[in-house]
Amino acid sequence: MTIDQIEPQAVDSPITRSALFMVATLGPGEHCAVRVREVCGDLAGLVRSVGKRVPSGNLSCVIGFGAAVWERLFGTPQPIGLHPFREFGSGARKALATPGDILLHIRAEHMDLCFELAALLVKRLGDAVAVVDEVQGFRYFDMRSIIGFVDGTENPGPRDVARFTLVGDEDPAFAGGSYVLVQKYLHDMAGWEALSTQEQERIIGRTKLADIELDAASKPSCSHSSLTTLEEGGQEIKILRDNMPFGRPGAGEFGTYFIGYARSPAPIEQMLENMFVGKPPGNYDRLLDYSRAVTGGLYFVPPVDFLEQAAE
Ligand code: HEM
Repeated sequence: MTIDQIEPQAVDSPITRSALFMVATLGPGEHCAVRVREVCGDLAGLVRSVGKRVPSGNLSCVIGFGAAVWERLFGTPQPIGLHPFREFGSGARKALATPGDILLHIRAEHMDLCFELAALLVKRLGDAVAVVDEVQGFRYFDMRSIIGFVDGTENPGPRDVARFTLVGDEDPAFAGGSYVLVQKYLHDMAGWEALSTQEQERIIGRTKLADIELDAASKPSCSHSSLTTLEEGGQEIKILRDNMPFGRPGAGEFGTYFIGYARSPAPIEQMLENMFVGKPPGNYDRLLDYSRAVTGGLYFVPPVDFLEQAAE
C-alpha cells in the first residue's frame, strides 16, 4: 500500500460546535485487550450509523492509544515517537501526566450526536476499560476560547494540514497515523477578568476583538503566540488544535480542553516546554498564571486500516 492509499482517521475533521473527550484506562487480562480491538473494528460502522441520522451533523471520532498499552493491544512494532506523556515545569506551573490509555475525540455539530456515539462505545467497551475523564466541550461565541479570545486562527490550512499532522516516510509502518496530546486546563476566571483587555492581549499576543496578531514591537517574547510559534530551518512548524471550552458556572469551573495533533510529539512538547519552563527559562507563558493543567496524556492515532486489521 502506498502512502496516498492510506486512510487517516478523521484528524482533520471540519470545525464543529460540540466535542466530547473521553479518556479511559485498559483493564487487566487478555479479554480486555480483545474487546478493545473488536471495538476498533466496529468504530467506523458506529460513526456511520449514528452520523447518518443527521447528515449535516459532521459526526466524527478519533481513537488514540497510549504507550503503556500499545504492545498489549497491538504487539510490536510500536510507533517510533510514542512514549508516556513528558512532564514540563514544576510547582503550580506544571504540565503533568495523568492516567489514560485510550482517548476518544468525538466531534459533531450537536452534542446529541457526540453523546449517542459515546454511549454506544462505552456500552461496547463494557468492563474492558474504566473511564477516568470525560469532558463535554462547546464552541463559544465567534469561535472564541472561554478566556474570550478567538482560538484556532493559526491552525495549518487545508494545503498544509496533512504534512504537519500525518506520519510519513520517517516511520513507514505507521504512515498516515498521527500523535495527539491532550490537557485539561482550569482557569482562574476572576483573576483573568480583572486584567485590562490590553494586558490580556499582551499575554496572548493578539488583539481580543479583531483577533489580529500584535506587531513585533508590542508583542512580548513571553506571549502565548510567541512561545508556541516554532521554526526549523526558516520554516514554521505547525500543529493542528481543536480546543474546546467547557465548564460549570455554578461550580465556578471554567475550562479549556486543549487538544493538539502533530506528525511527531516533538513540536507539541517543545511548545509545552516554552510555555511552562520559558524561553529562555523564566520567560514563561503568563496565561499559566491564570490556567492550571489538571490532566495530560499523549496518544498515537493509527490509520483506519490499522484499526480494521487489529480487529481481525
Ligand atoms: C490554557 C489553554 C490554552 C488556551 C486558552 C489557548 C488559547 C490560544 C489562543 C486564543 C490562541 C490565538 C489564536 C490562534 O492562533 O489559535 C492560541 C494560539 C496558539 N496556541 Fe494556544 N491555548 C492554550 C494552550 C495551548 C497549548 C498547551 C499549546 C501547545 C502545547 C498551544 C499552542 C498554540 C499554538 C501553536 C498557537 C498558534 C500560535 C501562532 O502561530 O501564532 N496552546 N492559543
